[in-house]
Amino acid sequence: MLREVLEWMQPRDGAVYVDGTAGGGGHSAAILEASGPTGRLWAFDRDGEAVQAVRERLRACSERVEIVQSNFDRMAEVVPAGTVAGVLLDLGVASPQIDQAWRGFSFLQDGELDMRMDRRGGVTAAQLLNEQSAEELARIFWENADERDSRRIARAIVADRSVRPFVSTQQLAELVERVCPRRGRKSHPATRVFQALRIEVNDEIGSLRRGLVAAMTVLADRGRLLVITFDSLADRVTKGFFRDEAREYEVVGDVDVPMLRRPRAPRARVLTRRSVMPRESEVMENPRARSAQLRVLEKMVNGVE
Ligand SMILES: C[S@@+](CC[C@H](N)C(=O)[O-])C[C@H]1O[C@@H](n2cnc3c(N)ncnc32)[C@H](O)[C@@H]1O
Repeated sequence: MLREVLEWMQPRDGAVYVDGTAGGGGHSAAILEASGPTGRLWAFDRDGEAVQAVRERLRACSERVEIVQSNFDRMAEVVPAGTVAGVLLDLGVASPQIDQAWRGFSFLQDGELDMRMDRRGGVTAAQLLNEQSAEELARIFWENADERDSRRIARAIVADRSVRPFVSTQQLAELVERVCPRRGRKSHPATRVFQALRIEVNDEIGSLRRGLVAAMTVLADRGRLLVITFDSLADRVTKGFFRDEAREYEVVGDVDVPMLRRPRAPRARVLTRRSVMPRESEVMENPRARSAQLRVLEKMVNGVE
């Protein structure tokens, strides 16, 4: 979605930008080029390998970039508040993460069940599978990826692990195939289970909720927040956050009762009524882009456009 990102972000010379998910550096490089010769960029990624790759790729304009290995939910701790013209969050996994079998993101190749984007700490997928209760595993599969057979799969995991703890991606992929045979469906039966585990291991939804708030803090007046999601849960969270920021009233309590609403100036304006999808030519070139959705929010100070 490179072209779409540039169209909506409209990078300009001299302004400051944040790429919260620098990955291979494709978007970062394009933002730097479009905001040249003096635009500046903060590039974040929690994955050490991605940080190395992006450092290599952006070497030529290193004096205009600050590269930080960190979760983007901490951007407001390093980027001064109210200084940024555009923030990009291109969520999900990067191709190198999927392609390197040893990282454990893919059920198509055998590797260790790790799945941590930031391998400096945290809990691996194998630890979750071997230590969590059947109820908790079922919740992870259901809440994170709408897996309909969540309970059956969770029970089978608990039974299997008492014989042999989970170590490899193939072990898990084979279990899911055994419990939920393919029966003519196009996608691999383990797709949702792997997605759910990855979201849990990396606290992707918690990071997103905190990251959206942090992005609003660093954005300047009329600065734009662009979020690209690849799954329905992250898209729902983004859409809900955008709607709340654009509201002209404060909700009092946990339930939105119209009589109790307190008027307030909206904090932002939603620029994309519907999410923007990738062009067909991009999906042909890169099938992983087919589930991408872009949403854009513009910050308003004191409700003024
Ligand atoms: C889809 S890729 C981004 C690709 C990138 N836009 C490019 O042009 O190459 C997602 C990247 O975001 C990183 N990531 C995901 N969640 C993150 C988070 N909460 N904080 C920082 N980086 C994150 C992943 O490590 C991965 O490298």
